[in-house]
Amino acid sequence: MRCVVANWKMNLHFAEASNFCAAFAEDYTPVEDVRVAIAPPSILLWTIHSQLRERGVTTFAQNGHFDSKGAFTGEISMSQIRDAACSGVILGHSERRRMFDETDETLAKKVAAAQGCKLLPLLCIGETMVEREREQTFSVIQTQLSVLKGVSSGPIWVAYEPVWAIGTGRTADARQIHEAHHFIREELRVILGEAGSAVPILYGGSVNMGNFANILSVPEVAGALVGGASLDPTAFAQMVKVAQSA
Ligand code: PGA
Repeated sequence: MRCVVANWKMNLHFAEASNFCAAFAEDYTPVEDVRVAIAPPSILLWTIHSQLRERGVTTFAQNGHFDSKGAFTGEISMSQIRDAACSGVILGHSERRRMFDETDETLAKKVAAAQGCKLLPLLCIGETMVEREREQTFSVIQTQLSVLKGVSSGPIWVAYEPVWAIGTGRTADARQIHEAHHFIREELRVILGEAGSAVPILYGGSVNMGNFANILSVPEVAGALVGGASLDPTAFAQMVKVAQSA
């Protein structure tokens, strides 16, 4: 299975999202075994769902709270995300870890809460440049993956996103991606047993039309989490085609 997920972050308004869907639908033909999801700001989830559901495109939220309801101003729960027809939720994106103090402890609760609501957690992990230079890449990944210990009872996707490659125009090279994905696969097998062999591992960080085919040819890369380049419907449709022909 291949997976291509658009992470819109805090971009686009209703009219732009609607135009995106119309343009994307023109260029996109669904293919079995290639999963396509869009993670817009939560206020746009229903707009995307209603325009693209018939094309088999699913929606993911970009974050969710672990409690089921209550006095948490500004948050949305996993069951509300599910209620908005999402199939998944991005968790632990480096921007949330860095700017909103997301910790591995809260992430463990979020993964469990998402799975409890039949949402697919897309767990993002990855090292900063300082950590890479200090040769801590594997230990950082190992710690971030440890949130799956004891909580993972259902399907899960993982995205390896080196922080230094996000939004910088700089991608990890094939060797770096291969080493990291191989390590993640081994760790997933340790944590999840046989189920760890089936977890799709996506790459993220400055993926675009020009580099996606090469990235996808690296062993253990199941697809991509695409930020900036996913805001252009033609570019995103093109990347989906690359996944479909890989
Ligand atoms: P980018 O973002 O493709 O713009 O680097 C990827 C991400 O943050 O998920």
